[in-house]
Amino acid sequence: MRKTVTAMMVAAVAVTGAAASADAANKKQKVDPEEAIKYRQHVMTAVGGHTKAVAQIVKGKVPVPHHLGGHAKALVDMSRTTLELFPKGTGPDAGDTKAKAEIWEDWKDFRKKAEAFNKAAVNLVKAARSNNPKTVKKATKKLGDSCENCHDDYKKEDD
Ligand code: HEC
Repeated sequence: MRKTVTAMMVAAVAVTGAAASADAANKKQKVDPEEAIKYRQHVMTAVGGHTKAVAQIVKGKVPVPHHLGGHAKALVDMSRTTLELFPKGTGPDAGDTKAKAEIWEDWKDFRKKAEAFNKAAVNLVKAARSNNPKTVKKATKKLGDSCENCHDDYKKEDD
């Protein structure tokens, strides 16, 4: 028994150590702008997918209201990473991106818009738990507004 506990402790230390060195490696690793842009677009596409799925559920087009909470939670997780999707040097000069240069000039405001997205996603998780269609509708609208508020200022129009 004692041996098992020690082994578990060693394993726990190993995991913590591995996580710490992964963090250090990430910090040291140089950002490849083109990969960072692609990654950002993949994550945003995923965010778009969850948001469109939520809209279908809320409009009653698919009979899966119990999926709502899962989409909302995924959006919360992704909203926490938004700022990390925009490392310096991944603007319009760096590749095929719709991100505007103003993001890095108005970083404080950009951060606010990312925080509003996070808040709206957290709010949707709560709304999904309420099981109240009105509350869910309101929360969904708020979420959509949080995307638009950022896109309006910081994402180039589709051409
Ligand atoms: C803080 C700002 C911000 C927020 C909040 C935000 N986005 Fe975006 N989004 C962007 C920017 C900037 C781009 C352009 C990225 C690029 O082309 O590199 C983008 C791109 C996208 C794309 C296109 C991805 C692609 O493949 O080119 C989709 C879809 C998208 N966002 C959906 C959403 C949805 C849905 C929400 C809200 C639930 C949201 N975004 C919230 C800034 C934001």
